[in-house]
Amino acid sequence: MNKIEIIAHRGASAVCPENTMIAFERALELGATGIETDVQMSADGRLVLIHDETLQRTAGSEGWVKDFTYDTLRTLDAGSWFHADFAGEPIPSLEMLFNLVQGKRILLNVELKNGIVPYKGMEEKIIQVIREWNMEQQVVLSSFNHASLVKCKRIAPDIRTALLYMEKLYRPYDYAAKLEASGLHPYKLAVAKEEVTAALAQGIVTYPFTVNDPGDMELMMDMGVQGIITDLPDVLASLMTAR
Ligand code: G3P
Ligand code: CA
Repeated sequence: MNKIEIIAHRGASAVCPENTMIAFERALELGATGIETDVQMSADGRLVLIHDETLQRTAGSEGWVKDFTYDTLRTLDAGSWFHADFAGEPIPSLEMLFNLVQGKRILLNVELKNGIVPYKGMEEKIIQVIREWNMEQQVVLSSFNHASLVKCKRIAPDIRTALLYMEKLYRPYDYAAKLEASGLHPYKLAVAKEEVTAALAQGIVTYPFTVNDPGDMELMMDMGVQGIITDLPDVLASLMTAR
């Protein structure tokens, strides 16, 4: 079979605290060919890698990411909630992740978490940082906020975008083409084989999320997807080898 992208969801998040440098490094060691991460914005406009809008779950602190400066956010402990062995792991900046993967054959899927908090200027900022680091070819921007992806595309037509969605869409490939997106990132239950095929015929790749069950991984591969977003990159890598 053709090789597909093994995209580590929030890094190797089954074995390390999600969205930390150690999770990203571990993902590469486990055979990931891509990394997915979530970006929020600090009070002083820095892009930080954390899934939730609030700090409680993974950084053990009260309040919203948007209300703290980067200098404060970087002092928080984003590792202890997962296991004491990871105590002191900081919330990374986007630049820290760029520094890890730049120049490697690693796809970087950055999800803009601008659905609940409407971060003003997030699109401009992310494109500015991508350009400063010459990451245009390596990055794919995704979001459930499709209007935000259209805005990204307007600012930077050369940077790929991918539509995140939970429920089935009518002819998702036509919708993606209309929004000039080069990828579809559906929830795993919203994938259909004929749509994967039709999307690819238009040059649009399909990467379902978040696929952790080996049987589901096999099913997705049978449907012909071009990548899978998973917490378990090593499991997917060994399934692919066995095929
Ligand atoms: O890439 C898809 C997936 O990351 C979207 O859901 O909540 O894990 O960010 P979530
Ligand atoms: Ca995500």
